[in-house]
Amino acid sequence: MTLAQFGQYPAPRFAIAHISDTHLLGGGALQFGAVDTAPHLRRALELLGDLEEPPQAIIVSGDVADRGERDAYLVAKQLVEAAAARLDARVFWAIGNHDDRRAYSSVIFGAESDAPQDRVHELDGLRIVSLDTTLPGHHHGELEPGQRAWLQGILATPAEHGTVLVMHHPPVPMALDRISHVIELDGQSELAPVLRGSDVRAILSGHLHYPIYSSFAGIPVFAASATCSTMELAGAGRTYGVRDAGQAIAMLHLFDAGSGGMAEAPVTHTVLPLAQAPLVVAHRFEEFAQLESMTHGQRRTLLSRHPDRDRDGRAHAWLDAAAGAGSGDAPAQRG
Ligand SMILES: [Fe+2]
Ligand SMILES: [Fe+2]
Repeated sequence: MTLAQFGQYPAPRFAIAHISDTHLLGGGALQFGAVDTAPHLRRALELLGDLEEPPQAIIVSGDVADRGERDAYLVAKQLVEAAAARLDARVFWAIGNHDDRRAYSSVIFGAESDAPQDRVHELDGLRIVSLDTTLPGHHHGELEPGQRAWLQGILATPAEHGTVLVMHHPPVPMALDRISHVIELDGQSELAPVLRGSDVRAILSGHLHYPIYSSFAGIPVFAASATCSTMELAGAGRTYGVRDAGQAIAMLHLFDAGSGGMAEAPVTHTVLPLAQAPLVVAHRFEEFAQLESMTHGQRRTLLSRHPDRDRDGRAHAWLDAAAGAGSGDAPAQRG
C-alpha cells in the first residue's frame, strides 16, 4: 500500500518492531508467581498486525526467557516467527541476562554454544548488529575486549543505510532507579569510542522494564518497555516494585537523509502500549480514505483549523458525520 504524504516527511525507509524482555517461562509458570507473560507477548504481536504499515522486521532485545528454559524459547520462537510470517517480516534476536546461552542458541538458532551471542545481519542495506552484553551467571553486563574489537571491525565499513545496534543492557544513566545501577553495563566509557563517529543510527536495548531514551556517543538510545511487567519508579518508599501493567512495545522508524528537507536522517521510536483500555473515539480507516485523494490544503482545512475559529464550521463536522458519531457538542480536538 502506498500512502499519500500528509506532511513534510515521506514514509520511513525502515519500520522495525522492537519487543523486549518477554520473560517467558516453561510449564505455565508465572513471573514472580503472578504474571502470565505469554499472553502479553501474544498481545504485542497482535498489535503489529493492526498497524497501517506493518514492520519489515521484529527485533527482540533480550531476556526472552525468565529462567533460560528451553520450553520458554520454543514458545517464544513459535509465537514470534508465526507473527513474522503473517507480516512477511524478518526476526532478529539479542540475548539478555535472564537468558541461557546454550538453550537460547540451541532453540533460536539451532547451533548450541556458550560463546558470546554476537551476530551481524543485513536487512535491505541496513546492518543489524546483535551484541551480547551478558556475563553468564550475573545480571549486570559487560563486554569482553574481543567483542569491542569485533564490533570495531564490523563498523569499519559503513553499511548502505547504516547500522542498528541491539544490546540488552542500555548504555545510559538511570536517574530514577539506583537499584538498576547494580546491574548496569560495565565499561561504557570503553565502548563509546568504538561507536562514536560510526554509522550506528540507533541503539536498541531493554533490561530495565521501563522505557528510557538517551544518547550514547552521539547515538540515540532507546530502551524499550518490557512486555512482561513494569518496574515501578515512584514506589512511595518501596525500594523495588513491579506491576502487571504498563507493558509496551515500540516501533523504530528510520528515514532517509533529506527527508523533510533536512540534511540528517531522522530516527524515531514510538511506544505502542499493550493496555486494552476503553476506546473512547473510533473512526474507521475507510472514512479516512478520502484524505488520501485530497490536496494538502484541503486536509489542512478539514483537520487543522480550530473548530471555534473555523468560519464555515466544516472542519470537525466532517469527521463527526463520517463517524456517525453525532456527538455535535464536543468535536474532537486534533493535533
Ligand atoms: Fe528483563
Ligand atoms: Fe535484563
